[in-house]
Amino acid sequence: MQLQLHTPLDMHLHLRQGEMLQNIAKCSSDFFSGAIIMPNTVPPVTTKEQLLGYKREILNNTSGFTPYMTLFFKNDYDKTFLQSVRDELTAIKLYPAGITTNSEGGVSGFGIEELEPTLQAMSELGIPLCIHGESDGFVMDREAEFMPIYESIAKNFPDLTIIMEHITTKAAVETLQKYDNLFATITLHHLYITLDDVAGGMLQPHLFCKPIAKRPEDKAALQSVAFSGHEKVMFGSDSAPHPRDKKESCGCAAGVFTAPVALPALAQIFEQNGALDKLQAFIGDNARRIYGVQAPEKTVTLEKKPFEVAQTYGGVVPMFAGQTLEWSVVQ
Ligand code: NCD
Ligand code: ZN
Repeated sequence: MQLQLHTPLDMHLHLRQGEMLQNIAKCSSDFFSGAIIMPNTVPPVTTKEQLLGYKREILNNTSGFTPYMTLFFKNDYDKTFLQSVRDELTAIKLYPAGITTNSEGGVSGFGIEELEPTLQAMSELGIPLCIHGESDGFVMDREAEFMPIYESIAKNFPDLTIIMEHITTKAAVETLQKYDNLFATITLHHLYITLDDVAGGMLQPHLFCKPIAKRPEDKAALQSVAFSGHEKVMFGSDSAPHPRDKKESCGCAAGVFTAPVALPALAQIFEQNGALDKLQAFIGDNARRIYGVQAPEKTVTLEKKPFEVAQTYGGVVPMFAGQTLEWSVVQ
């Protein structure tokens, strides 16, 4: 059995910089037509020069791949600045300060007055806002506690396209449906795992990520919107490579590296749930509509043939390392 995917897009991707980028970029560009590139580099992408430099670095290390660039949200971006970068960027990513890897320079107050000037300018210029929606509360409650902030931004800026990044809870799935301007990305790993897979037995550092995987009922809610091809959700891998010694260590970095396995693992879980006909919507069509992007045509053929996942790709341990998936990409 074969399956063709047209112009697959990854709407949340960490490609890093330098040697790491050189080692792992191919794991995305071999399979995806384009991706939204996260700006939490060191230092974060906050200027036009950095954005263009980073885009050039990605283009130099990939082929047939469109990097959709983002800026790291700052309260002091004004309309003149945003106008000057408008044509180079696809979205702006907002992180609460210190909530995840390289987010120290994020936002520490979510009062609408503080965010208003930048969000108003983004709304007028049609720049989508991507949000890492977690509070600083108890780790399992962080996403649910962020829902009032999503609601307040959605209500106050009805013309702003807001992407709830890597949603992990039933609460987020419910909030998503309440406002026309809310959309969401869902990762591969949150469709597969719960906290039990991370910490229920021996600790699995390669499945440790932010937001942490939640309860079975949360996973079921994510599966239900993804497998229905729901028009407000799209695939965003949040593939987040870290060197092996930063994962298998005391003080494990957050992030699951899924780029090399994403398409086969998605085909497997969509098929197992009788939803293979909805994968095209999830992997590209919804994203094109939500973001209004037109990536160059690329057809990727998958076939139902065992795929033995390697222990490492570019020196980084992927999800499903050493395991066999039911689908493979026809090279
Ligand atoms: C991401 C990373 O490593 O950059 N980590 C993660 O656990 N997902 C950052 C992020 O998206 O939160
Ligand atoms: Zn991320």
